[in-house]
Amino acid sequence: MKVLLTGRSGQLGQALMASVPDGVELVATSRVELDLADSAACRRIVEEQRPDWVLNAGAYTAVDQAEQEPALAEAVNAQAPAAFAAALQQTGGRLLQLSTDFVFNGAQGHPYGPEQPRQPLGVYGASKARGEQVALQHRQARLLRTSWVYGPVGKNFCRTMLRLHAAKADEGEPLKVVADQVGCPTSTLTLAKACWRAIGIDANPDGPQVLHWSDAGAASWYDFAVAIGELAQAQGLLRQAATVEPITTADYPTPATRPSYSLLDCTASRQALGLPAVHWRDALAEVLARAQ
Ligand SMILES: NC(=O)c1ccc[n+]([C@@H]2O[C@H](COP(=O)([O-])OP(=O)(O)OC[C@H]3O[C@@H](n4cnc5c(N)ncnc54)[C@H](OP(=O)(O)O)[C@@H]3O)[C@@H](O)[C@H]2O)c1
Repeated sequence: MKVLLTGRSGQLGQALMASVPDGVELVATSRVELDLADSAACRRIVEEQRPDWVLNAGAYTAVDQAEQEPALAEAVNAQAPAAFAAALQQTGGRLLQLSTDFVFNGAQGHPYGPEQPRQPLGVYGASKARGEQVALQHRQARLLRTSWVYGPVGKNFCRTMLRLHAAKADEGEPLKVVADQVGCPTSTLTLAKACWRAIGIDANPDGPQVLHWSDAGAASWYDFAVAIGELAQAQGLLRQAATVEPITTADYPTPATRPSYSLLDCTASRQALGLPAVHWRDALAEVLARAQ
């Protein structure tokens, strides 16, 4: 099975590269080989490579910066998947499109099911929502939504917190983290398994078109920051964790509005993928062990 991967240098891309299943012929691209903002190039590479699947892990992910660059976010997050889906329609291949809990507004107060309507709050979420819509117009596309992604490499909350814990502990200052946004952290290690499985279950053409995948449980950013400090200290990654102080979203304004409650209901998807629920704290311990 030939798989064309985008975003190979991203945090998910690197986890996918490290876990390629037997029998997969991988053509992995970064922005050097394929600019996702160039729709014609996205179509062309599919026509040239004729992959069985495009695994579109590349994305414009700078949530706050997107508020200043809506056209670029739209090109990468919406027009690229549209171009892939259209070209794959011609070649007979399929698309696995990654998406985000930020397509929801977080107002309903209980976990989102895969088929619920999208109501994004910011430019990034809106661009990903349009990417979902255009991809799903093509029956050969499958969508995998996830949330709060972090891993042992790349730019992510966990690695930022490790740095800040060390710095704040040295200064004797508290680390202030937002406690009124709730979601679920998702490790790139478990997410990569889910992505490869989402391609593997393709033998069943009636498999779900929209999948939800996050690690299990729920957390605020504050809970996540506390756990990072505790586990990193226990694993010897930090000499001393900082004291974490809960603050509100209003105390930490950002250009983009984020959903206050964006848990994804993964029950049906876990069953479809045949993968167990892994509590986010256990997944975090595994990521930190790889960071050593
Ligand atoms: N991060 C999260 O918290 C989160 C949450 C929910 C869903 N997701 C989704 O999960 C997927 C994987 O995200 P991630 O966390 O692995 O993101 P990431 O670490 O930011 O990686 C994104 C990758 O896309 C590449 N990219 C950006 N613009 C490009 C362009 N114009 N042409 C080619 N490549 C381009 C980046 O290349 P450079 O390295 O060269 O910039 C990077 O390698 C995305 O679909 C994202 O929307 C992420």
